[in-house]
Amino acid sequence: MNRKYRKTIIAGNWKMNMLPSQVKPFADELKAVSPRAKWCETVICAPFVDLPAAIKAFKELRISVGAENLNENEKGAYTGEVAANMLVDLGVKYVIIGHSERRQYYGETDFSVNKKVHAALEAGLQPIVCVGESLEEREMGITLERINLQVKAALSGVSAEKMRRVVIAYEPIWAIGTGRTATAEQAGEVCGAIRGVIRDLYGARIARAVTIQYGGSMNDKNAAELLAQPDIDGGLIGGASLVPAKFAAIIAAANQE
Ligand code: 13P
Repeated sequence: MNRKYRKTIIAGNWKMNMLPSQVKPFADELKAVSPRAKWCETVICAPFVDLPAAIKAFKELRISVGAENLNENEKGAYTGEVAANMLVDLGVKYVIIGHSERRQYYGETDFSVNKKVHAALEAGLQPIVCVGESLEEREMGITLERINLQVKAALSGVSAEKMRRVVIAYEPIWAIGTGRTATAEQAGEVCGAIRGVIRDLYGARIARAVTIQYGGSMNDKNAAELLAQPDIDGGLIGGASLVPAKFAAIIAAANQE
């Protein structure tokens, strides 16, 4: 973390978990363990149908709400899809874009990710853009090349002004849901490289201000060590964000004096 130059953001990604009726009890439980978020912004990204309940329940806790996906079109005949301005209308602030599960199971590509980033920014949302290498890519030694390409493609055509609202999440695919976290050094190295790509594209000032999260089996035990890396400005947390006590402990790790 580097609190002087950029915001720390701890974001939960509930994925396809949590019923709408479970949102309020979750918020009550989280409130009871009362995480003090003096230094960081806290976000919960939830399934579409949970969003109204989440916005209501998390308001008092000052937790922002994010979606997990959006459609890149403004409106129209796209049965079953959700547009950016619908999310804004609800009071949603963030949206995860290009999560590896969407790339893997729903055919999202670097090109569709770029379109979604533009749609989100145009509507006033803050995209959390996910990038990450597979195990094969890491073993072949092409991690940084892969990440470089993903970051450049996702940000293609994004103005410097809009870049101030973009969050990047580095999520090595082999660390997601596996309990196999990247070491703090591995994660810090890639997050530093991502900042380098942004520096090349937008200059040092913007690169210094962008929030870069780590995601992949981040939990209450390893959060402090990961967040101690200078280029890791928060986390995108799956499994541990479904357990109020664990999520609160991660928030606490981001708020140590
Ligand atoms: P886990 O924390 O469950 O590994 O999930 C990480 C993730 O994919 C967050 O987007």
